[in-house]
Amino acid sequence: MAIKIIGTGSYLPENVADNHFLSTIVDTNDEWISQRTGIKERRLSSGSNEGTTFMATQAAMRAMEDAGVTAEEIDLIIVATASADSYVPNTSCQVQGEIGAIRATCFDLNAACSGFLFGLNTADAYLETGMAKTVLVIGAETLSREVDWSDRSTCILFGDGAGAVVLRKMDGKGGILASVTGSDGTQGEVLTCKGRGIQNPFHKSRRKKDYIQMNGQAVFRFAVTTVPKYIKQILKKTNTDVNDIKFFVLHQANRRILELIAKRLKVDMDKIPMNLDHYGNTSAASIPILLDELNKNDLLDEGDKLILSGFGGGLTWGAILIEW
Ligand code: ACO
Repeated sequence: MAIKIIGTGSYLPENVADNHFLSTIVDTNDEWISQRTGIKERRLSSGSNEGTTFMATQAAMRAMEDAGVTAEEIDLIIVATASADSYVPNTSCQVQGEIGAIRATCFDLNAACSGFLFGLNTADAYLETGMAKTVLVIGAETLSREVDWSDRSTCILFGDGAGAVVLRKMDGKGGILASVTGSDGTQGEVLTCKGRGIQNPFHKSRRKKDYIQMNGQAVFRFAVTTVPKYIKQILKKTNTDVNDIKFFVLHQANRRILELIAKRLKVDMDKIPMNLDHYGNTSAASIPILLDELNKNDLLDEGDKLILSGFGGGLTWGAILIEW
């Protein structure tokens, strides 16, 4: 039996904010952003009718259509997000309500930009043990609500969007072959977006709404050491030659990070597909959006080996080997 991705989908808002547009909001320019990040433009939500739940639902419906499954067949929905529209109900229950997946168990998962990988991992465990048969895993983010639009060091990096996959345990070989995930809470302060302050009869928080704050260079160093290390670990664990991997589908944070990862793995950049120039960093959504792009452009053939890998706040990281 194999645990396979049988459908993909994605959704991106129509609003495009290119680097020139951002230079009218903060003291920045296209040259700085392009050289340091590779990002040219990003998509931004048009408002509360295009939030995390809406985008997650659209991506999910497209993935279900691609897979040819109905909502009644879905028995688990996992939404990876760090930017839900509400604390309660969670995003996955709202998606369930929207699509009518009445049989599904639903929960959200927050591992920041690594969230989709953690979601796949969790789906794999449910499917492997027989606790679920058909699973929707969605990565969806509206990071534009968590960014301080007067902070040029962060607002240029992020974008909104959602990606989804349908997984099923089925006869045959391939599918998810192996995965590694990890976390280091001792480095959590490197990348934060704090919640509401405590307001109760004993305490009146004076904290105002918090925004994404980041030590960019520390995140950069963490990414370029951790991602190659865990990719090498998974290759070794599965006795797979790096040259047998068709694509490394990596979290789309920064072109320079991807180039350094390629160098450290000794692979050509044409094995590292990229769409961050158009979408920026969409956190938990970036890997499923890119996977959907590869799938819809007919770049994935049965038997192709892929590594999905990324890193994010927490700190968190993961790598998954898949045979398509
Ligand atoms: N436009 C123009 N100048 C800027 C901008 C901007 N948008 N932002 C910062 N600067 C200035 C700084 O003020 C600083 O000026 P100074 O030298 O006068 O003090 C100068 O540019 C250099 O700033 P650094 O922060 O040192 O720039 P760096 O080369 O480290 O690049 C960057 C910053 C792009 C954020 C880089 O550190 C990076 O990519 N890090 C990884 C970040 C990342 O990927 N985060 C998300 C991953 S985790 C997740 O996905 C949730």
